[in-house]
Amino acid sequence: MAAAGILVSASTWAMGSLLLKLGAMLGDEYRLLREVRGDVRLLQDELEAMHAFLLRMSRVEDPDEQAKLRAKAVREMSYEIEDRVDKFMRLVDRPDESGGGGILKLIGDWGNLLTEMKTRRRIAKEVRGIKGQLNQASERYERYKIDESSLEPRNAKVDPRIVAVFRDASELIGIDGLRDDLVKWMSNEDHDSTNGLKVVSIVGYGGLGKTTLANQVYHKLGANFECKAFVSISRNPDMTKILNFIFSQIHNKGEAHTGTRDPQLIINRIREFLKDKRYCIIIDDIWDIPTYKILACSFVENSRGSRVVTTTRIYDVAKSCCSSDGDLVYNIKPLGVHDSKKLFFNRTFGCEEKCPPNLKEASEDILKKCGGLPLAINAISGLLVTRKTKEEWNHVRCSIIGFAQGKNSEVDAMNYILFLSYFDLPLYLRSCLLYLTMFPEDYKIERQRLVHRWISEGFIRGENGEDLAELAETYFHELINRSLIQPVDIGYDGKAPSCRIHDTILDFLIHKAVEENFCTQLRNNLKPCDRIRRLSLMGNEDERIIEQLDLSHARSLGVFGHNQRLPSPSRLKALRVLDICNCRGSGNHHVKEIVKLLQLRYLNISGTRISELPRQIGDLKYLETLNATVAQELSELPESITQLKRLARLFVPNKTKFPDRIANMTNLQELGNVNAFVQSLNFLEELGNLRNLRKLSIVWDTSCILKFDEASCKEKRLVSSLCKLETCKLRFLCITLSLRENDGFVGHLFVPDLSSIREINLYRGKICWITKWLISLVNLEKLSVIREEIELEDLEMLGSIATLVELVLYSGCLGPATITSRGFEQLERLRFNFGVAGLMFEVGAMPNLKKLDLQIYLSKFNPVGTTSNGFDFGIQHLSSLAWLRVTLYCIGARAADVEAAEIAFESMAEAHPNRPKLEMMRLFQGDMLQDDL
Ligand SMILES: *[C@@H]1O[C@H](CO)[C@@H](O)[C@H](O)[C@H]1NC(C)=O
Ligand SMILES: *[C@@H]1O[C@H](CO)[C@@H](O)[C@H](O)[C@H]1NC(C)=O
Ligand SMILES: *[C@@H]1O[C@H](CO)[C@@H](O)[C@H](O)[C@H]1NC(C)=O
Ligand SMILES: *[C@@H]1O[C@H](CO)[C@@H](O)[C@H](O)[C@H]1NC(C)=O
Ligand SMILES: *[C@@H]1O[C@H](CO)[C@@H](O)[C@H](O)[C@H]1NC(C)=O
Ligand SMILES: *[C@@H]1O[C@H](CO)[C@@H](O)[C@H](O)[C@H]1NC(C)=O
Repeated sequence: MAAAGILVSASTWAMGSLLLKLGAMLGDEYRLLREVRGDVRLLQDELEAMHAFLLRMSRVEDPDEQAKLRAKAVREMSYEIEDRVDKFMRLVDRPDESGGGGILKLIGDWGNLLTEMKTRRRIAKEVRGIKGQLNQASERYERYKIDESSLEPRNAKVDPRIVAVFRDASELIGIDGLRDDLVKWMSNEDHDSTNGLKVVSIVGYGGLGKTTLANQVYHKLGANFECKAFVSISRNPDMTKILNFIFSQIHNKGEAHTGTRDPQLIINRIREFLKDKRYCIIIDDIWDIPTYKILACSFVENSRGSRVVTTTRIYDVAKSCCSSDGDLVYNIKPLGVHDSKKLFFNRTFGCEEKCPPNLKEASEDILKKCGGLPLAINAISGLLVTRKTKEEWNHVRCSIIGFAQGKNSEVDAMNYILFLSYFDLPLYLRSCLLYLTMFPEDYKIERQRLVHRWISEGFIRGENGEDLAELAETYFHELINRSLIQPVDIGYDGKAPSCRIHDTILDFLIHKAVEENFCTQLRNNLKPCDRIRRLSLMGNEDERIIEQLDLSHARSLGVFGHNQRLPSPSRLKALRVLDICNCRGSGNHHVKEIVKLLQLRYLNISGTRISELPRQIGDLKYLETLNATVAQELSELPESITQLKRLARLFVPNKTKFPDRIANMTNLQELGNVNAFVQSLNFLEELGNLRNLRKLSIVWDTSCILKFDEASCKEKRLVSSLCKLETCKLRFLCITLSLRENDGFVGHLFVPDLSSIREINLYRGKICWITKWLISLVNLEKLSVIREEIELEDLEMLGSIATLVELVLYSGCLGPATITSRGFEQLERLRFNFGVAGLMFEVGAMPNLKKLDLQIYLSKFNPVGTTSNGFDFGIQHLSSLAWLRVTLYCIGARAADVEAAEIAFESMAEAHPNRPKLEMMRLFQGDMLQDDL
């Protein structure tokens, strides 16, 4: 890689957290350290000097070899020192003295004193050790002179709401023509009589937009194909997983599974299923011929006009995909000058006309160097969008031109542009971005997961009292804003729930991460030579290699792959982050050992087979985040969990019982799925003492209680606690209601209209029991009604909840629903499921609705004999519509009706002035009625 020689240290940021810790040790909290205070202060000075050095280094674009070596040594040393500091901080952080007095207390004091003296000696020794290490290092290196670069990192504040919510339009620049060509080619019936399988392979180097094109094609293909699948292959594909994924997609039932891991068997099942269907399968990003050969075995030949699309960077792979007559190798070309400009100016100024004249020349030169690569154009415009002076633009321009001299490869230029984008990041963002290399290629990375892991790694540092999770989310959105990661969908809160990273950018980051020893990649079964600081097991490594690794310095461990075995926790003493979610190879015996990971801050065991937390979980006293939303039931939490004083986020399944006394968990900020009536009275009371709680979800379900008195008593306690929390920091409350007619709740307002209530899920019960209350809520943003159909008049009432942004009606409406221009002013998303009844939007209805998600049971909705006029919903009256998703439940419907419905939706979308993005899906296609003529 061209920019390879350049050292930019994201780890520098990591070192800052060590300095903070030393600062804290000098504070009053750590009385024990009085004797070593002088030494700690010296340490701090020394480390500050190292930190300053690394900071300056991080601004040097091209340091010499010696400086690089030195920076590396300093970085590694700072990791070691932090490990030691963390170790002795644990010694100093004593558990709180237990209450009670008298003789027992006295004995306790003596005992404490003895341990205290021992601890002091150990600490003094550790500090001396570090000092010695530092002294040696300082002697080894003398000072270096460093050029300060004028391209200072910049720290632009970003609005976490991404304004360009539905960004498809900009993705389309330059691609819509190609897409339409391809779609036409694919839909064409063959002129010869065979009408057999055809393959098109889109080929071109990384950053040209192959995946975007394939995606567009996939979404554009509508009724023409009976089944579709889209899979991304990575460099080390797991064939079983991929084949199973294809199988489940073509079945389109969500959960279809072959239940086997034998590729040959899966292929047979796929062939069997596809043999008489018109299918379309998209294989994205394929790297080698043998992989394709295996996949191709499942593409059965028939004469239905089926199609396969592959994308690849390698011409030979493309050629071998297209070995039959009539197949097509499609060379994707860079954008032309016109489209390049369109894309560039759309990002930077909105359009070319708005570009200030004094930046015109610079922008032309910069664009020329982008070589028409959408990825490069996006990256460079993400960099320039915050800069508006001619000097700044000229600096970027000279930098790129200087680099590109004598080199002609667009790929080199693109890598250099990626480097510039990276180099432009403030240090905290560099660490955050490099951390993405902990996830597999093409992985959908959940925002919360990433953000919580960043926090536990110490990357996020707020000013006093700042909410770290919120701060981290602004970082996440800043990376999106800079086009370094791509949002996947946008939630009703305007935030992206997850992201993906372009594989070209990921390659670049991996290169950086390895160079800085930020994380270790186990590629090609080579044993890494540097110390392992962070590691992800992707599921295709050689177990023997894993066994041999020295993991005693690892801080983060992620485990993907379902059946992966977790390395024994006794090898992971320094671990801060352990993420084994969905790892089915982990059970209760693993979690027993996890309590030995004394430095652990983040533990995610959601989706595992663990059904019990160890009694000693309280030993993990640094734990900040625990997601224990395990796949099975977790009937109760051990009592010692209340000793986790730093725990800020705790999530459990919706039936779990908490310990009675939780008042000590004062650091809790987010608490998920408290099934209120399963808990003790005492718990409900102490809940009100969690004064830092910002987000809370509760389940309100009295079915576990037999006596009315008890229910009403608990209800009172709960309500009083909720009110108390709201006077503190509670800002987000989600209540899942499961109501029964004989609950006694019917008709009376059981919870006051708290302003923190933002989400209500009515899991069971009639909406008319609570409509009055719903309307009184001042901040309700999302409402889901899950099991019951609702009456038309209730729907109208809901329209008057002015703050409502998202409405989900899983069971739809009892009668035909007409939505008038009254109400639902702010509603942006509607998910509507209909059985028998129809739906009609009148002129001016839901003026803000952007996303409409319809689920239709065709057999019920469109009984035999109805014409396709039944599909006029007045969608054209939704003036803000940008996205239409239609899921057709095919059970018991005739194929002709399914097709008619699809055609109807296509023409509705075409006819809509906004041309909304249309996504259609068939579910339970296998249970369609057979057309017997
Ligand atoms: C809570 O903390 C206090 C003092 O910090 C302590 O006395 C008490 O025993 C703790 N309670 C529980 C249930 O851990
Ligand atoms: C990124 O942030 C800047 C500065 O806040 C803003 O001007 C720009 O429009 C944002 N870009 C995108 C794509 O959101
Ligand atoms: C330019 O960007 C805006 C959103 O920022 C989008 O709505 C518009 O369609 C884009 N223009 C083109 C020509 O794609
Ligand atoms: C834990 O992993 C799950 C599954 O990927 C994810 O949804 C969740 O956000 C993670 N939890 C936390 C607290 O990060
Ligand atoms: C915890 O994990 C579950 C299951 O994977 C997930 O649905 C949930 O969003 C996670 N909670 C958080 C806050 O990350
Ligand atoms: C509780 O969780 C289970 C499993 O995730 C889910 O199926 C069920 O619907 C949930 N119940 C409620 C009332 O939310």
